[in-house]
Amino acid sequence: MRSQSEKKSSNVVWHQAAVTREKREIANGHKSALLWFTGLSGSGKSTLAHAVEERLYEMGVKTFVIDGDNVRHGLCGDLTFSDEDRVENIRRVGEVAKLFVESGMVVLTAFISPFRSDRAKVRSLLAEGDFIEVYCNTPLEVCESRDVKGLYVKARAGEIAAFTGISSPYEEPESPEVVAETGSLDLEASVDQVIAELVSRKIIA
Ligand code: ADX
Repeated sequence: MRSQSEKKSSNVVWHQAAVTREKREIANGHKSALLWFTGLSGSGKSTLAHAVEERLYEMGVKTFVIDGDNVRHGLCGDLTFSDEDRVENIRRVGEVAKLFVESGMVVLTAFISPFRSDRAKVRSLLAEGDFIEVYCNTPLEVCESRDVKGLYVKARAGEIAAFTGISSPYEEPESPEVVAETGSLDLEASVDQVIAELVSRKIIA
């Protein structure tokens, strides 16, 4: 991973946009924010993020979901699941999500994002209150019994290296803004919980 001090582009000056985030938020009728869904593979991150997006769409809120499984086909298609590449994956996604927040949208990301330090870095990229961590708290046993993509079976058989929860760590969030009990609660209840968080933060009315 390259930190700011290691960046290679020089002689570049930030261009200030005339159409600011604030103007976009006024035009949209809501604030922007980043809903960061984290949890094990199969914990329901994508399902919940898309269900929240649908609800927000019906309310007229401008949204976009950035999904790990999709991003790894393009923007991050060059990355493996080594610790180093996961760090780079989350760094790129954090930067992209930050741009979406500037665009006035409510952006929802669904990545395992197993390392606390990476999630903290994304949080620190944004202004206070813009980063809302949603922990999809489905225990490993439940994810494994669901095994929607058949990956846990392969990981247990040693066919997938460094699989999160099996042979690669997942660091649970210590103080997420939302804990969605995606292992036991029904989907709509978790959607209600996330929407309520956005309302209480006055991001949406
Ligand atoms: S992250 O760790 O870098 O945040 P990301 O969310 O992009 O992971 O991708 C996770 C998805 O890739 C999983 O939902 C799963 O479908 C797939 N996958 C393939 N190999 C692995 C692996 N070794 N560990 C975890 N997920 C994997």
